[in-house]
Amino acid sequence: MPIYLDHAATTPLRREALEAMQPWLTEGFGNPSSVHSFGRRARAGLDEAHERVSRSLGVTPREIVFTSGGTEANNLAIKGAAWAGKGRGHRIITSSVEHHSVGHTVRYLEKFGFEVVELPVDRYGRVDPDEVEAAITPKTILVSIMLANNEVGTIQPIAAIAERVRRHRGILFHTDAVQAAAYLEVDVAALGVDMVSIAAHKFEGPKGVGALYVRHGTNVLAQQQGGAQERYRRAGTENVAGAVGLAAALELAVAERPAVAARLRTYRETLVERLRTIEGVQETGHPTERLPGLLSVVAAGLDGNAVTIALDLAGLACSTGSACVSGSGEISHVLAAMGFPEDEAAGALRFSIGRTTTAKEIEEAAGLIAATIESHREAATRLEAQRAAALARPLAAVAPEATSE
Ligand SMILES: Cc1ncc(COP(=O)(O)O)c(C=O)c1O
Repeated sequence: MPIYLDHAATTPLRREALEAMQPWLTEGFGNPSSVHSFGRRARAGLDEAHERVSRSLGVTPREIVFTSGGTEANNLAIKGAAWAGKGRGHRIITSSVEHHSVGHTVRYLEKFGFEVVELPVDRYGRVDPDEVEAAITPKTILVSIMLANNEVGTIQPIAAIAERVRRHRGILFHTDAVQAAAYLEVDVAALGVDMVSIAAHKFEGPKGVGALYVRHGTNVLAQQQGGAQERYRRAGTENVAGAVGLAAALELAVAERPAVAARLRTYRETLVERLRTIEGVQETGHPTERLPGLLSVVAAGLDGNAVTIALDLAGLACSTGSACVSGSGEISHVLAAMGFPEDEAAGALRFSIGRTTTAKEIEEAAGLIAATIESHREAATRLEAQRAAALARPLAAVAPEATSE
């Protein structure tokens, strides 16, 4: 079995979540909107999922809207707040290191007259709360800044940003906690946010289901029209099994969080110590304000894609930067915003450890990563030497053989 160090891309479904979902995929198949007993049973299951998720987040059940995942939660928060606030203003503040489900959504809104301010970050990927405040004008209606970054693991100073945002009236504050929910406390009161996005598949729940916390009284316009589901905030027959699976996985993630985070931190440290011995490899992201199990590095002069493929062949699944950009041939917008030059960002690798990762796997992974990077570096050096030698050779020596003409 290959070693899986790509938990930031997705996690395996945990047994308890699968078991919680199974009745709702079989005999509990009813539509929660139906009035008969099948429907009423499904409604009760869905209501319970709202309760359990709200308890895990310290909010009320009606403040939870189930969605099809993190992308939809982010779209609903941003577009919903933007359209609801259009009468008051048109300015949206975000950061340059957001996931594309935030970054591309605000860019889309620009086409409709919204003005987007994308704040820069420091070399660790952090936004300065004072810069958020400086960007606020009377026309600002929304601030959306993620809790933890999916590529480098940096945690943003959300509470400090919220404190600045609250100095001004009528601005909603949304945070994308999709990567954070498994490993950091998501206390909406302490964070001071109005909306929070989460996705079940990042904490061993099922794919295709997420949730948006919307503070009671917050005006967010529904982004799809149809039925009255989720209190008119998200039309469409609910994914009852998915919601139950999300609730079960989130409860367990919250309960196990301190122990899991502590273990992941030590595993990450083991990996880092080994990789630090390789010349030209540097960690990216904040040294302390970071997710416990996510290790991202750049290896100057290396092709991150090639190393990822070689590691896969050697039995280790990881990613180059983010799952969302890998394969696209583009340099990560996150590393670019953090000031990494193109040749360094091209050598980005991300290893994300999960709850089920073992100490033995970490030991094995450390050896595989070091050996693979070193062999790629040797090959790159050899190739460069051959290229230099070929260029230095007199032209005649490399000219094609004379033909018999
Ligand atoms: C920070 C962040 N936000 C949003 C998403 C999108 O979530 P989903 O895959 O559930 O649509 C991801 C997924 O990688 C993410 O890492």
